[in-house]
Amino acid sequence: MADRIAEDKIIEIRQAVDIVEIIGDYVQLKKQGRNYFGLCPFHGESTPSFSVSPDKQIFHCFGCGAGGNVFSFLMELEGISFQEAAVKLASKASIDLEINLTAHQKEKKVPKELQAIRDAHELLRKFYHHLLVNTKEGQQALEYLYGRGFTQESIDKFQIGYSLNSWDFVVKFLSKRNFSPEWMEKAGLIIKRERDGTFFDRFRDRIMFPIFDRNGNTIAFSGRSLGGEDPKYLNSPETAIFNKSKILYNYHQAKSSIKKLQHAVLFEGFADVIAADRAGVENGIATMGTSLTDEHIALLRQNVQSMVICYDSDNAGIEAAYRAGKMMQDAGFEIKVAIMPDGQDPDEYIKKNGPEKFRHEVIEASLTWMGFKFLYFRRGKNLQNEGDKLAYIEEIIKEISKLPMAVERDHYLRQLASEFSLSLDALKQQQKQFYFAEKRKEKGKSGPSFNQVIVPKPAKDLKPAYYSAERYLIAHMLKNRDLLYKVQEQLAGNMFNIDEHQAIITYLIEFYEEHPEPDSAAFLNHLQDENLRRMVVDIEMQSISDELSNEELSDYIKQVLNYKKLLKIKEKEEKQKEAEKQKDFLTAAVIANEIIQLRKSL
Ligand code: UTP
Ligand code: MN
Repeated sequence: MADRIAEDKIIEIRQAVDIVEIIGDYVQLKKQGRNYFGLCPFHGESTPSFSVSPDKQIFHCFGCGAGGNVFSFLMELEGISFQEAAVKLASKASIDLEINLTAHQKEKKVPKELQAIRDAHELLRKFYHHLLVNTKEGQQALEYLYGRGFTQESIDKFQIGYSLNSWDFVVKFLSKRNFSPEWMEKAGLIIKRERDGTFFDRFRDRIMFPIFDRNGNTIAFSGRSLGGEDPKYLNSPETAIFNKSKILYNYHQAKSSIKKLQHAVLFEGFADVIAADRAGVENGIATMGTSLTDEHIALLRQNVQSMVICYDSDNAGIEAAYRAGKMMQDAGFEIKVAIMPDGQDPDEYIKKNGPEKFRHEVIEASLTWMGFKFLYFRRGKNLQNEGDKLAYIEEIIKEISKLPMAVERDHYLRQLASEFSLSLDALKQQQKQFYFAEKRKEKGKSGPSFNQVIVPKPAKDLKPAYYSAERYLIAHMLKNRDLLYKVQEQLAGNMFNIDEHQAIITYLIEFYEEHPEPDSAAFLNHLQDENLRRMVVDIEMQSISDELSNEELSDYIKQVLNYKKLLKIKEKEEKQKEAEKQKDFLTAAVIANEIIQLRKSL
């Protein structure tokens, strides 16, 4: 372990960083009382059960049980080792570790094949871009882009390129540089011919859009045909480094703007993202031509809580916007939907109307989710027709019933009343009926709304008294070193009943031998076992009094010991029965006496 980081460095790092700040980079946190709350990044959820304690410098999720300190947070979220997490944190805190661990570990950890796939993507991104911008071969493609309104600036920013009209240019280009053709086929850059096993280029005569991961590494390409050839956009296949359902186009560049503005704009196509960026909307992202997945949503959830959906305003686009909006609504996002006139897409709209109008009359004028539903349910209906009209009104009232705020419900009911010249009172009454009918249906199913923080409910199977007693004792021992020795003394050689609790104490004794001061976050580093770490964090998060009185202490100890006595009594009762069976009445009587003594001591 040559690159083990010295203990004092670890302590220095831990003291220099703030867990709230570090986690705040990934999760939107809101302060409530002493702690911060947000949506857990380790499991999909729509109500915040993830909490961070600045006092203890630990995090914990009541929902999935994840928990730990700032090191384990990074380790779990980014899938990195303790050393790598330490390096990351050290660089944030400008602490010099004097070892170039990242380079070293990368080399060690990333298999050669993966590295080659990554390198080939980087190389080709640069080369495609060069072909587009600087060569005669790329000229026609460049003119096409200019013709569509792309600027030199966005061509550079998005690293757009051009792939030559050749069957084997990339095959040769890569093999000259010693990339194995088999690996490059797995990378999706070239394709093997069935008949003779030779290879040919996947992307030919296309405008190349590199796809970046969230760290800005090129992991795939999408190539748009110049003429009318199908498919319009040809994408890299799924590979070891590219998973469509997890990738959002432009996420790496949009991220900072998303965080600053506290919302992101979701587009359908790359062309829209790039046009919007040119129009000053830099927080735009898009899926890879697929519908939105739970994984996309989880990724977005780490940074943002509001979304604007800006899909094509044709039928298919509106349908897709409704589906995406519903998914995001369920995930707890606040949603708005931007609409363009005449079934246009954002790219076309910007070209026709300019950036100002796009920003002010489309993005800033986006409809609320409910406002969008007013339009959505209208489609395919003829509102001059009595039946269609009533069906529409019913659908809208049902949607209004789902709104949590009375003012919102009132607002939309008024809108409906005025549009169809209906009595507001009648609409209100109808809305209440729907609400209660829905409630009866859903009885017990509905959860709390987003802004409500979930308070952990006591487990259904109530734990025995000794269980909580042990936890309270551990909670106090974590805060107070002397208490650990006091408890040991009073236990008089007995152990805690729960094995894990006893293990935690054993580690805590070890820890206090080296650290005179209690320090929860440091203690977590000392624990190797994931399960124990989670338990400790769970215990840490329960609130306890600052001081433990002697009376409370002996109460808890008694509960721990009583359980042992109860076990012993049970054991003796068995023996007593056995003795009676054997007609050994003397032994039975002796045991009976012992049982009485034990009972008395409870
Ligand atoms: P669109 O057809 O709306 O593309 O498809 P666009 O962005 O308007 O493209 P231009 O303006 O014609 O150049 C939306 C998205 O669907 C995916 C792409 O990701 C595209 O950005 N798509 C579309 C494909 O993957 N393959 C296709 O053949 C077409
Ligand atoms: Mn388009």
